[in-house]
This record gives sequence, structure tokens and C-alpha cells, in this order.
Amino acid sequence: EKGGYPDFMLKEIHEQPRVVRDTLAGRMVGGALKISELGMSLEELQLIDRVYVIACGTSYHAGLVAKQLIEAWARIPTEVEVASEFRYRNPIITPTTLVVAVSQSGETADTLAAIREARIKGGKVFGITNVIGSPVARESDGVIYTKANKEIAVASTKSFLGQVVSLTLLSMVLAQAKGKFTQAQTRLLFGELADTAEQIERILADTTAIEEAALACKDANDALFIGRGMGSAISYEGALKLKEISYLHAEAYAAGEMKHGPIALLSKGFPVIAVATQSPVYDKVISNIQESRTRGALVVAVATEGDEEIRKHADYVIYVPRVRDAFSAITVSVPLQLFARAIAVARGCDVDQPRNLAKSVTVE
Ligand code: F6R
Repeated sequence: EKGGYPDFMLKEIHEQPRVVRDTLAGRMVGGALKISELGMSLEELQLIDRVYVIACGTSYHAGLVAKQLIEAWARIPTEVEVASEFRYRNPIITPTTLVVAVSQSGETADTLAAIREARIKGGKVFGITNVIGSPVARESDGVIYTKANKEIAVASTKSFLGQVVSLTLLSMVLAQAKGKFTQAQTRLLFGELADTAEQIERILADTTAIEEAALACKDANDALFIGRGMGSAISYEGALKLKEISYLHAEAYAAGEMKHGPIALLSKGFPVIAVATQSPVYDKVISNIQESRTRGALVVAVATEGDEEIRKHADYVIYVPRVRDAFSAITVSVPLQLFARAIAVARGCDVDQPRNLAKSVTVE
């Protein structure tokens, strides 16, 4: 049932092009983007003046990506918060607040409690889950199913991708409702989003560079993941994936924070994984890479195909196809998943069943 793959994690990573296609299937009807399950009228969408994305773990990281998109496109102030914090801090929710609850399993205790809290306070709740009929689906006003299909490996990969793609659609719908996107712009973006399926296939077709970088880092005790903007959001997920399956201590930082503390950790050979794809903050990330390298760090850069310049700054370069910055979380997450898995395999870990973790967390 592993379909010829050595573990479920690798099988599920390879399913991601299909996840993109299935999540987008049937969404563009007669040239218009539709999420009919939203359970909200156009007027209700237009009135939304605040968004909270609530989730735990990897799903929370999908929320970090969504914040970038909703604020950039729809211009609605968006906060992302872990459910266990949100539920206990008396959050400010009004009838024009949209709470987006993201949960693969649809049964995470803290996320459910956050949904209930939000509804008691009169907010609209929209769920994003992978499990049909799950509590998150039942208790939300509307729901998008992520079409990842059953995920067996404890560490989430394809579900994360399904969440990011679904949240991207939601961001586009919000932008449209707010009059920030014309239908033509939405169609253009939708087409590029659909193209990421093929781009992921290209990443999966040759993973040599990822494996080489992983071998260089496998004996480290600690690693830092850095990036800015979208790259910072995805760094958090890269670090979580690595620590949970390989037990290598990894942290993520917005790259601009390096000088404010974490740079003190660096010494010869310390792995710094930098998301350095083309974006408005590319040059700033390069300076952060340089400051790390000056301190002896071993730099692994995830960069855009065709960027030869970066080879001067990094010990290892992992290329991803060129996409607009808004979609870079989709492409960049794939090599980071493979990087974490390659390190875990090299360290002899059980990648599908990491110690101390459970696939769904139904207790607080
Ligand atoms: C990490 C991972 C966990 C889950 C978290 C939330 O790979 O899978 O961090 O993302 O436990 O679970 P869901 O999404 O089911 O609410």
C-alpha cells in the first residue's frame, strides 16, 4: 500500500501534484472563481474587516502563508494564532470577523474549542479540513475540504499543501469580494496556481541536490531556517518538519531577526537553510546569508532556477521553478519536506511514526 515507496511520507510527498489539481478542480466556473461551500453571501464577504486564522502545528504554518496572501490581496487585517492561545485569551470577535479554522484531522481539541469560542462571540467560522464530516467541518459555517485524501505519515506534507492551496483560493475570493481583483486578474492567478502542479512534478523528478544538502547537514545538532515574507512563513514549516522526524533541533527565524540573537549560535559548519527565491526582499535575504556565512555557517539556499549568482553565497543550492512570490510557499515546501525526510532516513529514524507524536490530537 506504500505504492513502491519506502515509506508513506515519501509516497504522500509525491501525491502533491494531484492534491493541487484536485483542490482546484471545478473551482473556476464560466470564468469566475467560486467557493460555494463558503456559506456566506457576497454582502457578508464584503463586510469582513478582520480575519483570524486559527490552527495548530503545521496547519498553523499554512495560516502564516494565508496571512501574507489575505493582507496583500484583500487588504484585510489578518492574525494567525495557535488555537491553544486563541481560545483562552478572550479574542476580539465581532459579526464582521471571519475565523478560519485549519485542521487536517478536523478533530484537534484546541482548534475545536477555538471554533466554539468564535461562534459564541458571533463570528463567522470557516473550516479547512481533510476529513469529511469531521467535527471542524460540522461546527463551522462553511468548509473547504483539502482533497489530500487520507494521510498516514504522522508528519503532515500533502495536507499542508492542500491547506495552502485552499487558503490561496479563499484569499482570492476575499480579494474579489473586496473589489481588489478583477475577474481577469483572478483567472490569471488561478492559471498560475494550477501550473504549480507541474512545477512540483519537476521538483520531484530530480532530488539529487536536496539529498546532497541533507547529507551535509545530517550530523548537525542544530539548524536554523531563515527567510523573509513568504520565505519566513515557510521556514517555520521547514524547521518543524525537520525536528519532528529527525530529532535534529531546528528553529526558524524571520531572517531580519538574525542579528537580534540567533546569530550568536553560529559557528563553523552550523547549517543555515535560507529561503532565497525571487521576491521583493531577495537582496535582504542575500545579506542575511552573507552575515551567516561570515560566521562559518554551512548555507543551504533554496533559490529560483536560473539564479546562478546565489552559488557564490551558498554551499548548497536547491533550485525550484520560478513562480510569483505569492505561490512560492507551494513550491518551496516540497524540497523542505524532502530535505527533512532525507536527514531523518540518514539518521535511521522512523519517518512515518516519529516518537512521542500522534496523528490527531484530541486532548488539550
Ligand atoms: C506536523 C503535524 C502537526 C499537526 C497538528 C495539527 O507535521 O502534522 O503539527 O499539523 O497537530 O493537526 P490538525 O491539522 O489535524 O489539526
